[in-house]
Amino acid sequence: MNKTIAIIKGDGIGPEIVNEAMGVLDAVAARFGHTFTYVDAPMGGNAIDAFGVPLPDSSLETCLNADSVLLGAVGGPKWDDQPSANRLERGLLKLRGAMGLYTNVRPARMFSELSDACPLRADIAARGIDFVVVRELIGGVYFGEHRTGESGGEQKATDIMSYTEHEIRRVAHVAFQMAQKRRKRVTSIDKANVLDTSRLWRKTVTEVAKEYPDVELLHMYVDNAAMQIVRDPSQFDVIVTENLFGDILSDEASQITGSIGMIPSSSMGEGTRGLYEPIHGSAPDIAGQDKANPIGTILAAAMMLRYSFDMAAEADAIEAAVDETLKAGIRCGDIMRQGCTLVGCREMGAQIRCRI
Ligand code: IPM
Ligand code: MG
Repeated sequence: MNKTIAIIKGDGIGPEIVNEAMGVLDAVAARFGHTFTYVDAPMGGNAIDAFGVPLPDSSLETCLNADSVLLGAVGGPKWDDQPSANRLERGLLKLRGAMGLYTNVRPARMFSELSDACPLRADIAARGIDFVVVRELIGGVYFGEHRTGESGGEQKATDIMSYTEHEIRRVAHVAFQMAQKRRKRVTSIDKANVLDTSRLWRKTVTEVAKEYPDVELLHMYVDNAAMQIVRDPSQFDVIVTENLFGDILSDEASQITGSIGMIPSSSMGEGTRGLYEPIHGSAPDIAGQDKANPIGTILAAAMMLRYSFDMAAEADAIEAAVDETLKAGIRCGDIMRQGCTLVGCREMGAQIRCRI
């Protein structure tokens, strides 16, 4: 197959980790007889420097015309005090909106090789961590009206949170279908004791659940969920929640696995085109030093093959190569243990490549 992949290298360690992921994709292409064509789409701080905006129209076009998009990481202290119209987050939200990416999936899985890095109590970790957070990505307060004005002689700010039934329904379907392929349990998270949007969320998810009688549906308030994720993460299989709650809970979920550098994420809409990225940031403190862990990005590339290109065997090959590399005791700095072999970003890429 021929596939065109838009490449957003981004800032900080972004270019290094994306280069290794492209190397692994090339190894897959060679072994399975595919052709992957990469087209650069500048975005983030580097785009502000070169074009004056975080997401130039030409980059957006490139992403919209590609079969899928691979993103490293964007941002860094250099661009922290951009005027609000030019903040890096704007670029990312614009890209998500324009691509119609309403579902964000972040797996929280503990690698057995790395279980000693889990920050939870040993008896909790022993029960295992393997769930996914399905986050609604282009609705809610992120995409509502934002306003700052004056009221009674002081400043007043307002952000509108709204959801329509169809926005809830479409992401709920994704969650239930994912649960059907897993342990068949969806936990829908809301704040229905306070918010109207949450009451509509709960009612709509409950309706959608009727189409999936083989899947168990539980509801949980978001404050309780934040607590349950550290108290007993083994109770979760698929979590589905709205945009802001999902932003917060997915960070919490990734942290308890103890290996943030290893976790990929996918964002999808209608059709097969998606945006794939590691969940970690641009780590400007180690940028350009060949110290970054490229595994999150390499696993994001595997997700792209699986979900956008329907290349299951190819995705399996990447995931197996990562597992074997870890089993061989090869580690980047963030996951280094006594008795293992410390390697840099490039060598980690090479080690995984040669196992494809
Ligand atoms: C994320 C990030 C973004 C979000 C920021 C950078 C706007 O935290 O991808 O989770 O909140 O969605
Ligand atoms: Mg976030």
